[in-house]
Amino acid sequence: MLKVGVFGTGHLGKFHLNNWKEIKTAELVGFYDPNDDIAKEVSEKYQLVRFLDPETLMDACDIVDIVAPTPQHFTLCEKAIRKGKHVFVEKPLANTMEEARELVQLVRESNVKLQVGHVERFNPAYLAVKSIPLSPMFIEVHRLAQFNPRGTEVSVILDLMIHDIDIILSLVKSEVKSISSSGVAVMTDTPDIASVRIEFNNGCVANLTSSRISMKKMRKMRLFQKDAYIGIDFLNKKAEIIKLKTPQDIDAFAFDIETPNGKKTIALSNPSVPEVNAIKMELEKFCEAILNNTPTLVSEVDGFRAMDIAHQIINKIKHNTINT
Ligand SMILES: NC(=O)c1ccc[n+]([C@@H]2O[C@H](COP(=O)([O-])OP(=O)(O)OC[C@H]3O[C@@H](n4cnc5c(N)ncnc54)[C@H](O)[C@@H]3O)[C@@H](O)[C@H]2O)c1
Repeated sequence: MLKVGVFGTGHLGKFHLNNWKEIKTAELVGFYDPNDDIAKEVSEKYQLVRFLDPETLMDACDIVDIVAPTPQHFTLCEKAIRKGKHVFVEKPLANTMEEARELVQLVRESNVKLQVGHVERFNPAYLAVKSIPLSPMFIEVHRLAQFNPRGTEVSVILDLMIHDIDIILSLVKSEVKSISSSGVAVMTDTPDIASVRIEFNNGCVANLTSSRISMKKMRKMRLFQKDAYIGIDFLNKKAEIIKLKTPQDIDAFAFDIETPNGKKTIALSNPSVPEVNAIKMELEKFCEAILNNTPTLVSEVDGFRAMDIAHQIINKIKHNTINT
């Protein structure tokens, strides 16, 4: 049984607590949160021990689960790794590139596993399309949210867009060639809305729009590749695939169209979406990686790469703002 301590029990931390309680390979030891009101609520609701000193809780755990605000990630991660504890840290991995680089190095020199909470990798709509070979050449993403002061200590790039950056980097097996971006700070001191274009060496182009000041919510990714269009609706947990029909597409709705190259048959299908709780699955997979000594599914290097692109985007936006 892996002993777990949760560090930060605000909005997302409570979801973690609920899920840890259901994971058979883990046992909650306690939590640390400096906010007395939140701590009182959590102790009562979850009947869980509140630790007043983070290091004492770390000493009592195998897994340090960090769900504190992003500026606190580095200090907590560093302490936990130096104590030889496995770390699950919410996205983004850290607040600055220097911090992220140091964490990658610390994990490399240690015997611990680290997983970053890029939870969209476990979104059922994404899992539904992963069975088909994905090799997109053009990607269109919209991630729109209504304004919420939570999370605004970082820009919309590190708050929301980083989810899509991580998925795209895991899908496109090529280096980033260039990035162009534009963003505007409307409600906070950092960009609340941004439009980004990432070009890869293999010719793939990704256009990403993220906003945390929208009237409606949307979390959609559209992948276009030589033989297929794949739509992933992360919010409504739906997926669709439109492709040239093959003999395997028995259940798909199909229709013919005339093209200059003759008649083509198009197949439309909605792959079945597994009933998966993404947060529970990412935590369970983390435990599996520790118990089986296998790599974590979203490693510190993945977290670093997503941050690297996010910071390049942020720097471009800053540069554009200064020069206008
Ligand atoms: N994966 C996702 O989709 C997703 C979604 C939301 C938030 N997040 C990430 O989760 C983290 C927390 O976000 P949230 O929305 O729950 O924030 P929140 O403000 O609701 O909760 C943060 C909690 O951490 C506590 N805290 C502050 N300093 C601390 C410290 N040094 N040690 C331990 N706890 C401390 C606060 O008192 C608060 O209770 C952020 O890094 C955020 O980016 C990820």
